[in-house]
Amino acid sequence: MQILQGKKIVLGITGGIAAYKTPELVRRLKDHGADVRVVMTAAAQAFITPLTLQAVSANAVSDSLLDTQAELAMGHIELAKWADFVLIAPATADSIARISCGMANDLLTTICLATSAPIAIAPAMNQQMWHAQITQENINKLISRKVEVFGPGSGAQACGDVGLGRMLDVDELVALTCDFFQPTTKVIQTDLSGQTWVITAGPTREAIDPVRYISNHSSGKMGYAIARAAQLAGAKVKIISGPVNIPTPEGCMKLSVESALQMHQQALKLAKNADVFVACAAVADYRVAEISTQKIKKSADDMQINLVKNPDIVADVAALSSKPFTVGFAAETQNVEHYALDKLKRKNLDMIAANNVALSGQGFNSDDNALTVFSSKTKTDLPLASKRILAEQLVQLISQHYI
Ligand code: C5P
Repeated sequence: MQILQGKKIVLGITGGIAAYKTPELVRRLKDHGADVRVVMTAAAQAFITPLTLQAVSANAVSDSLLDTQAELAMGHIELAKWADFVLIAPATADSIARISCGMANDLLTTICLATSAPIAIAPAMNQQMWHAQITQENINKLISRKVEVFGPGSGAQACGDVGLGRMLDVDELVALTCDFFQPTTKVIQTDLSGQTWVITAGPTREAIDPVRYISNHSSGKMGYAIARAAQLAGAKVKIISGPVNIPTPEGCMKLSVESALQMHQQALKLAKNADVFVACAAVADYRVAEISTQKIKKSADDMQINLVKNPDIVADVAALSSKPFTVGFAAETQNVEHYALDKLKRKNLDMIAANNVALSGQGFNSDDNALTVFSSKTKTDLPLASKRILAEQLVQLISQHYI
């Protein structure tokens, strides 16, 4: 079952530049089974049109408190009662101020006041506005009233500043919303303080020439979710990451690499002093034998590129004299258990997490996954869940085996 199946979500959009991300947010919430109704402020409509949101949500968009037609259909109180969850994204400094004061002079603030559903806000504003004392007071007031605050993230801002205040990425907002409906309170009971975890994540890129490469569809989501879970449980976490488009979890150190050889070099260096090594990266099995220094020109109708085998990173880590507790992944399309157990043994791993990437809605690039985790003596099924939750369960499982 999808995590948000049947959940009724009111998405409130206020007037910030991050509003341009909301059609994708609506689409992704719907992908997880949610029914989404959009409420826009007047300022939001300066950034994105109600027609776009209506098209992606497949529901009428509400924008006015005093619209007689709208009140005939689904009025503000009905919308407030309909909601299982109110998510305001982006939430501007102004909307946060008005909601924290209990104002009700537009549809969105009125719904916030009239609903008994949980409310989450995804702040989005300039870093100076975010750090302003009054904004922080407003946020604290909302937190004390049990409003969830998703983010904000840090990074380059539309105005050119760099710092805290960016709206979280759509992926993260969806994951946090899913977590809200599928809370796994304190899955990780173990305290990992004092431990160092090294995690490889994402794809590798094997250059062909200065402009082309061979790679795969790995998003890095699973590896980053494991990093986040281990960090939350107290571990010092280092991610060796191929090129990905997702943010680094707070508190984790990230080493960016491109090729399998670079990942191999960093992994062997860091694994020596690690307690746990998790190989989640989708490492290219082969690299180009001779990378052309110039762009290869189009000429003949066919061409051959010679490939040579890449080193097996996780197997080399598992062969270290100071071997950390080593966990591998096995993404298979058939005979999952057979191949996973073979890899566990052949690569001298302590544990292997296997998933069937042929099943739709899980694995590569998806937000969800299901794993079967093997050690030499145990088999544990971790059923379909968001990668965040799955990662917490996996970290708990690893910590139980690694004593
Ligand atoms: O052999 P296969 O690629 O299916 O094994 C998958 C596991 O091995 C994953 O944990 C992956 O990160 C790791 N691996 C690696 N170096 C490679 C190939 C795979 O660390 N060159």
